Amino acid sequence: MQAIVMTAPGGPDVLVATEIPAPRAGAGEVVIRAEAIPVLFPETKLRSGEFPLGAQPPLVFGFQAAGEVTEVGADVDSALIGQRVVVDTKGFGAYAEFVAAQADSVTPIPDGLSSVDAAAVLMNGSVAIPLLETAALTGAETVLIEAAATGIGSALTQLAEKYGAARVIATAGGTGKAEQARKLGADQVIDHNDPAWTARLREDLGGATVDVVFDSIGGTTALDLLDLMTPLRGRMLGYGWLAGAPAQVSASDLIMRGLTFTGCAGPAWLGRVARARADVLTLAAEGRLDPLVEAILPLDQASRAHQLLEDRTPLGKIVLRPGLSG
Ligand SMILES: NC(=O)c1ccc[n+]([C@@H]2O[C@H](COP(=O)([O-])OP(=O)(O)OC[C@H]3O[C@@H](n4cnc5c(N)ncnc54)[C@H](OP(=O)(O)O)[C@@H]3O)[C@@H](O)[C@H]2O)c1
Repeated sequence: MQAIVMTAPGGPDVLVATEIPAPRAGAGEVVIRAEAIPVLFPETKLRSGEFPLGAQPPLVFGFQAAGEVTEVGADVDSALIGQRVVVDTKGFGAYAEFVAAQADSVTPIPDGLSSVDAAAVLMNGSVAIPLLETAALTGAETVLIEAAATGIGSALTQLAEKYGAARVIATAGGTGKAEQARKLGADQVIDHNDPAWTARLREDLGGATVDVVFDSIGGTTALDLLDLMTPLRGRMLGYGWLAGAPAQVSASDLIMRGLTFTGCAGPAWLGRVARARADVLTLAAEGRLDPLVEAILPLDQASRAHQLLEDRTPLGKIVLRPGLSG
């Protein structure tokens, strides 16, 4: 089968299309014939070496894939064979024609939802839902969603009102992404490429405050935002560090303003993300969450997909499809 092997940490060209034997289902596992493989932002960091990979390359890269179950291992219900599902590999092996994964990572794809859409929406929605649940919005609150045009931010923006946001302020980089964030439901968008964007936000708020910040940028801007948050009620939910470092806020920064910071990462958090997967696919199948597919590329163009993501050009998810000719 064709698979994308990461040869070493480095630039996109370390992802190399290679012929290797297809995996077999071990005990507790399924194998799927992959039809759609999402290219995920954190994968670019794992490939570059910025995030720890947890294993030594060379290895078959990739975390998630959607397709049809072709084989089940011992102790797995054989009724799964032939079902359309999305799987999570918990590490490696998803950028391939056949993908082995734990049976407990299987999420069935509802009728009416394509495997491409399921692959594209799964991570964005399954992180957005626990973030919104954790925020526990009252129905009268203002939220700030960072990097709102794509990825998890795009799902947060689409779902915020349903989860009780009264006003949605978004950040996005450049006019195209700002326009997309507006279309997805933001009432107002600020360009986070402007180094003074938090000062712009202060002007736009005109003395009002933000109740909940969904912080994916992290770094020092997180600290700047604290003074724009509602004292004694404001919550910052930190789930990413696009700026290259987590939110630079200390306990005393929070205590002196009566704010809370909730870390939304790590194993327990990922358990909540996993539990949201079925709901996400249902929302997408019902047309209530747009998967925002930017492009479907042949599997052997994985390195090009990573380059596009690093250039920050896509307005949606890039999905790889085995068997598609370039
Ligand atoms: N905690 C969790 O469960 C979890 C799960 C998955 C991902 N994450 C994290 O959440 C964050 C967002 O991930 P995602 O998958 O939603 O990403 P994404 O939206 O698919 O891609 C990243 C977007 O961030 C924006 N951005 C802002 N500052 C950036 C910077 N300095 N470098 C690169 N991009 C920047 C870019 O949009 P503009 O062009 O508009 O700037 C880009 O489109 C990442 O930090 C990721 O590691 C967390």
